[in-house]
Amino acid sequence: MLIIGHRGAGGTAPENTLKSFEKAVQAGVKMIELDVHQCAGGELVVIHDEKINRTTNGKGLVSEKTLTELENVDAGQGEKIPLLSEVLDLVDHRAMINIELKGARVAVPVYELLKKYKKDFGWNTDDFCISSFDHQQLSDFRNVDRKTKIGILYPRYPHGFVKLADELQPFSINLSLRTVKPGLVKEIHALGLEVWVYTVNELFDLEHLETLGVDAVFTNYPAKLLHHN
Ligand code: G3P
Ligand code: CA
Repeated sequence: MLIIGHRGAGGTAPENTLKSFEKAVQAGVKMIELDVHQCAGGELVVIHDEKINRTTNGKGLVSEKTLTELENVDAGQGEKIPLLSEVLDLVDHRAMINIELKGARVAVPVYELLKKYKKDFGWNTDDFCISSFDHQQLSDFRNVDRKTKIGILYPRYPHGFVKLADELQPFSINLSLRTVKPGLVKEIHALGLEVWVYTVNELFDLEHLETLGVDAVFTNYPAKLLHHN
């Protein structure tokens, strides 16, 4: 089973910061997950919420802040809100990256950045996976990129996933821990798709999901889940 560092190692370092991503890579994950928004100047930044209030010492909407304003807030333990490009530079091929399209209209800017990193810095299509709860943005991404893996995120039961999968040609269906059930895993696998589950922080949940044949889990504690045997 693939263990994905959720927001890096969000349980033991400030989430979505370079420190958190380095910690996940050091723990040995093969993939990290992060959340992307666009700030006022158009740069792609890595932060979960639309506002900076919860995870930094600042206040306000990411979309209304300039990059300089965002660089001047503390995202925890002296860490900054990183640019997506800074995370790619830090990871430097040591792990694959699941980019969750969180902010509005980030699909095409993310596509453009990945194109640059593939052309200039030797990254491969298979190094990336794009996911979102905003299925319109997944469609926007698929319209410009037929190859990169897509994970369709669902907050609850994935009503209509067969039809959407036919349209988006995803790699995985990404379910919340409370939604996943044996029959649903079988249905998704029958379509040839993987089942990825968030957010799995307890070993008893991991072991249960292993028995169901779940393919990957997102965890805030990658070291704990990777080294439990
Ligand atoms: O991609 C899995 C997970 O990150 C989705 O939920 O709210 O943690 O971004 P959230
Ligand atoms: Ca996320």
